Amino acid sequence: MRDSEFEFIRTLVYENSRISLSPEKRELVVTRLGKRMRATQSPTIGAYCALLRDPQSGDELAHLIDAISTNHTFFFRESPHFDFVRSTIVPEMLSRRVAERWPRLYAWSAACSSGEEPYSLAMVLQETIPEATNWRWHIECTDISHRILATARNAIYHRDVVTKLSPATIKAHFQRGIGPEDGNYRIKPALRAGLSFQQKNLLEGEPPFREPFHLIFCRNVMIYFDRATQAELVQKLSERLIPGGYLLVGHSESLTGIKHSLQQVRPAIYRRPPNS
Ligand SMILES: C[S@@+](CC[C@H](N)C(=O)[O-])C[C@H]1O[C@@H](n2cnc3c(N)ncnc32)[C@H](O)[C@@H]1O
Repeated sequence: MRDSEFEFIRTLVYENSRISLSPEKRELVVTRLGKRMRATQSPTIGAYCALLRDPQSGDELAHLIDAISTNHTFFFRESPHFDFVRSTIVPEMLSRRVAERWPRLYAWSAACSSGEEPYSLAMVLQETIPEATNWRWHIECTDISHRILATARNAIYHRDVVTKLSPATIKAHFQRGIGPEDGNYRIKPALRAGLSFQQKNLLEGEPPFREPFHLIFCRNVMIYFDRATQAELVQKLSERLIPGGYLLVGHSESLTGIKHSLQQVRPAIYRRPPNS
């Protein structure tokens, strides 16, 4: 890959997703471009760059960002976060809900990838909020990638992924596929009903939600952004929390060195001060 081609791809990806591709990522970029070059029948990287420059290239920019971004995720990833939701966030919000007149617990999985993160959260909420309280919950799920959101909406996961969960969790929250779906499991409709999915670039414009959130998961996406972009994003997300609401980031995404107004309560768990 020529320097000028890497620079062109790097700038295009940064301007459209804010994913920051350092020179060390060059080999990775070449590998990921290979897939798009085959799909678009571009014989060389130069030809592929020319296609991207062509105003008629249609969706190719979205496909490029899809190919560059990493969608790796799994159920109950970074399990201390889910333990904390169970032990602290839900009881705290339940105890405040009547005085604050909250009709439901409202959460956002920002950069939800193929859905394992928000469905894990949904399982915890469904299991932790006592039915007798009649308190509902809802999770907004967003990602930059249309392709990965389609997988998340489908909520179908392969046996190899699902059978890592406990038998009780599988029984409570999954339907086993039959016939052509043998070997797959689907999240039960009752759980799916509590999630909405929409495409959203976290760094573009304002989040499309008006109601403030009790908790936001924004995990394992900030690592792809430079420090200035991370600071901008943390500020945006903080403004979307209720006073006393929680922001959970990936355990490798410390906010140290970023100017923010949140209190750290645990590793990778931050809280908007209750009186702010
Ligand atoms: C590694 S996955 C993390 C999934 C999940 N949050 C987790 O921790 O397991 C990163 C996700 O961020 C998404 N992403 C990357 N840049 C984004 C942006 N600017 N806005 C929204 N989503 C973005 C990618 O499409 C990908 O699905």
